[in-house]
Amino acid sequence: MESLEEKISLIDKTRVPCHVAMIMDGNGRWAKKRGLARGDGHMEGISTVHRVTKFSSDIGVKYLTLYAFSTENWNRPDDEVATLMYLIGWAIERELPELLANNVRIHLLGDIGRVPAASRERLDYAVSSTAHCTGLQLNICLSYSSRWEITEAARRMAREAAAGKLDPDAITEQTVAGHLATAGMPDPDLLIRTGGEERISNYLLWQIAYSELYFTDVLWPDFTNEEYADALIDYQGRERRYGKTSEQVAAE
Ligand code: IPE
Ligand code: IPE
Ligand code: MG
Repeated sequence: MESLEEKISLIDKTRVPCHVAMIMDGNGRWAKKRGLARGDGHMEGISTVHRVTKFSSDIGVKYLTLYAFSTENWNRPDDEVATLMYLIGWAIERELPELLANNVRIHLLGDIGRVPAASRERLDYAVSSTAHCTGLQLNICLSYSSRWEITEAARRMAREAAAGKLDPDAITEQTVAGHLATAGMPDPDLLIRTGGEERISNYLLWQIAYSELYFTDVLWPDFTNEEYADALIDYQGRERRYGKTSEQVAAE
């Protein structure tokens, strides 16, 4: 098996995906396997967030979008929701100096108003204090679901149309994209889901129209930089045709 350095050397640095999205799944099962509480799995998962953020930044990924908590996750037991909300605020506060040192800008995507005030304040502080950072753009999807996001976009477009600021006949795909939480950002090139499930779970449905999907059985706390490098190598071996033929793509 190749070392991390060998794997990194196999990655074409000129073709690193601009935008990588991740569904960070498997914390609960990781904890259960060890006889630990689910919260311990989430805690361990934070180390993986730290690793993949640094690795993304170092390898030249421009946008990293992480699914931290879905709209549907509000239906989990109260104590787990409380633990997750607390950990997210705690982790962002702890990571902030290093994020700043690495020029990482934080964006929050989701219905943040539902997040308890103590965590929200920490998150808002991280967003405002990294607003000048021009390196990796780190999107944290929190209280997020794609259908929530698309519904919000529809509502805003309808309001603008009713106010006479948007002509319905002039609505294009770009107009819709511009009303999503990811407005102004490129679509993900690569979506990685850990934890073995091969589903999307209400994540970035519009944005992943042409993303390459990569599923791994590795549980999120066990997702190492080696596994991440494997995903990037796999991605680089794929031909993105966008509906065209292989011959057309080769001629371009
Ligand atoms: C992902 O891990 C983290 C969140 C959804 C917040 P899970 O908590 O879903 O872990 P599993 O899927 O139960 O193992
Ligand atoms: C998806 O994981 C959401 C996050 C990773 C935050 P889940 O564990 O909630 O997904 P499902 O419900 O099993 O599909
Ligand atoms: Mg899960």
